Amino acid sequence: MNKKRVAVFRKEHFNAAHRLNNPDWSQEKNLEVFGKCNNPNFHGHNYELIVQVTGEVNPATGYVFDMKILSDIIKAEVLDHFDHKNLNLDVEIFKELNPTAENIAVVIYDILREKINENLDLKIKLFETERNYVEYPA
Ligand code: NI
Repeated sequence: MNKKRVAVFRKEHFNAAHRLNNPDWSQEKNLEVFGKCNNPNFHGHNYELIVQVTGEVNPATGYVFDMKILSDIIKAEVLDHFDHKNLNLDVEIFKELNPTAENIAVVIYDILREKINENLDLKIKLFETERNYVEYPA
């Protein structure tokens, strides 16, 4: 039998606060570009995170990736650091990087990429609201 590539998905959730701001710009410019998201006292989102792992089914297990292990990795590497946090203040990388959904997705990808075998493809989908979401890699 040909080896079939299958995508498996793990859906997770975290709540976090953030503020979008470019320190190189004036207050006026930041307000113009980011609107309410520039609120100096931060605001929160209920983020929905979908981690997609794609690869060949392992004939021994019948799995592409053990979902319990995937769940444990996401919890330890992402949720424990992001959930109920202020991303700008509590997460080191976002002290310098604007915590937009785009940047959060790239950061999560980079974190998980190191933990998941290279022969498996990884994709991150991050919902910031029910209607707005990003995907990386595009
Ligand atoms: Ni926001």
